[in-house]
Amino acid sequence: MKVLVVGAGGREHALCWKLAQSPELNELYCAPGNPGIAAAADLVPIAVDEIRELAGFASAMAIDLVVVGPELPLSLGLVDELLARGVRVFGPRRAAAEIEGSKVFAKEFLARHGVPTAEFVVAHSRAEAERAARRFGLPVVLKADGLAAGKGVVIAANAAQLEQGLAVLFDERRFGNAGDRVVVERFLEGEEVSFMALADGERLLPLATARDYKRLGDDDQGPNTGGMGAHSPSGLLSAEKGAAILEKILKPTLAGLAEENRRFVGVLYAGLMLTAEGPQVLEFNARFGDPECQAVMLRLEDDLLPILAAAAGGGFAVSRLHFRKEAAAVVVLASEGYPERPVKGEEIEGLAAAAAHPAVEVFHAGTAAAAGRVVSAGGRVLNVAATGQDLAEALRRAYAAAAEIRWPAKRFRRDIGRRLIERFDASPEGFASS
Ligand code: AMP
Ligand code: GLY
Repeated sequence: MKVLVVGAGGREHALCWKLAQSPELNELYCAPGNPGIAAAADLVPIAVDEIRELAGFASAMAIDLVVVGPELPLSLGLVDELLARGVRVFGPRRAAAEIEGSKVFAKEFLARHGVPTAEFVVAHSRAEAERAARRFGLPVVLKADGLAAGKGVVIAANAAQLEQGLAVLFDERRFGNAGDRVVVERFLEGEEVSFMALADGERLLPLATARDYKRLGDDDQGPNTGGMGAHSPSGLLSAEKGAAILEKILKPTLAGLAEENRRFVGVLYAGLMLTAEGPQVLEFNARFGDPECQAVMLRLEDDLLPILAAAAGGGFAVSRLHFRKEAAAVVVLASEGYPERPVKGEEIEGLAAAAAHPAVEVFHAGTAAAAGRVVSAGGRVLNVAATGQDLAEALRRAYAAAAEIRWPAKRFRRDIGRRLIERFDASPEGFASS
């Protein structure tokens, strides 16, 4: 098969790395890709938002399967564009991707289908938002409706933060049209876990569980980011809880989408809060999580290519996926200034030494090639990923390899998985296996 992966980050590097191992693969392309991905795929210089050009390339090259990584091309309708040209694609059409692209749609949809999520109000004005915030009490959560690269969510713990959040969303309109409608919702307490499943429109194949660390700093301090580290398993869900999430949250969501003429093919990703009242949906994404995908791909035993092709074609031929017992961990190496204004263009050293560590893969997220060297070119620059007998070993390996990599503005969290390992050491029998 000839395959095109769309995207340029660590997630797409991990997908290309995995797809490149398939005996069914003949040619692998990635648009636009990055210098790390170039080891596994031929890079195509088309940006992820140039959806006509991407579809034109796929049809001219007789690509057998397109795999879409990021959310932006999904909400721009890349899948619709490809299907109109008869190109098979793993990813949701624009209407189905609205589960991620519009927080208002997602919340109202979840409420319609009885899927547990925080109580909410859709506010069209500052006054409406203030009223809703008073009703829910502090802390309260404000969310811009449209895609805002993970930055459109304000968690206001006190009156000053609420005032600032309202000003950003309604007065400054920092998120433009994305802030025309704002979801005001009740703050949920608990631990967060990501639950992803592959969908063929009718059926779901759950992926191994993963946990993402969204805050920039150690001990979950600082601003939200796209994700500073991840591991799989999440360590937070028993097999029974995982099964309950599939039944009560993912299945009704997939069925509801089909019922509303938004049949969903791709990755259905639930961001969940494990509350005292049970798991509640924080958000849905319409794609693999980044960096969760990197951890999960290291554990996936099955050949990914025929499974994605089946989802995009006639439907799954298998009833479950297989994951290695080992754990996988990902440490994100970012540049100073991320997420606001990361320093870019610095030469990176030690990549080969890091990759030579046992059970380690170094995925590129925001790098560029300059005169034969690799330089930083984004906020999240590299993902150092490792497997191990358990989470502690996977993390030790990832951190040891990460220490080999150097550039002046390199920054990373030093506490990925730490609290979980402490808890495990305290009571190993209470540790959830998935
Ligand atoms: P979202 O993009 O909706 O997932 O929100 C980003 C982050 O904000 C989540 O990963 C949570 O850490 C936090 N968050 C969102 N909604 C809530 C909520 N209702 N209660 C507590 N935290 C939330
Ligand atoms: N890591 C969270 C996300 O991909 O949305």
